[in-house]
Amino acid sequence: MTKIAASLLSADFADLKSEIKSIEQGGADWLHLDVMDGHFVPNITFGPFIVEAIKRVSRLPLDAHLMISDPLKYAPEFAKAGADYITIHAEVIEDLPAAVERIKQLNVKVGLSVNPETPLDKALPAIEGIDLFLVMSVHPGFGGQKFMPEVLDKVRQLSVLKEQGKTNALISIDGGINPETSHQARKAGAEVLVAGAAIFKHQDRAAQIKAIRGE
Ligand code: DX5
Ligand code: ZN
Repeated sequence: MTKIAASLLSADFADLKSEIKSIEQGGADWLHLDVMDGHFVPNITFGPFIVEAIKRVSRLPLDAHLMISDPLKYAPEFAKAGADYITIHAEVIEDLPAAVERIKQLNVKVGLSVNPETPLDKALPAIEGIDLFLVMSVHPGFGGQKFMPEVLDKVRQLSVLKEQGKTNALISIDGGINPETSHQARKAGAEVLVAGAAIFKHQDRAAQIKAIRGE
């Protein structure tokens, strides 16, 4: 069954607790937390301090998406703050299998992400040991951007790798997911759909979540 990871980036941060409750009641499966450093991406969001605060008000799994240049330096702090999944970008890592191993030692699940222009090959050396593969379907940095259908090839390739038993990673997609684009993503094999604007910019969160899930 398709999981919906609600990206808090488009939530009202002055009212975070009720925003989180609304998507919990609306049926979201995970909370997706976009951490940006103003270096790997041209935007700055929040760090472990906010993750820790969110952990105190939600029981949903926290999916920390680290769009930062030095994820290995900060991963321990995110693990300590309560992240359940820590996803790092393949673009900033030289020795991917070693990086995945280091994050695993923090007793969290490990995710690996690639930007739209990064080929899947870049991540293949570490594909065996990861729990989540996050395919970016926009250039990371901002919520509310337009879905890039050309990345669906990577989702399809990952589905084949899964069928062949080469990875057990959940296939996730992030950026521009809404009730229309989610259909293509699900058809290609995406199992965890990240959605921000399509959920938080609408009053009826339950209806949006349902529609994105394809119900
Ligand atoms: C983009 C982030 C996404 C973003 C998705 O850099 O990684 O998680 O919040 O937002 P929407 O669904 O609005 O494209
Ligand atoms: Zn994200």
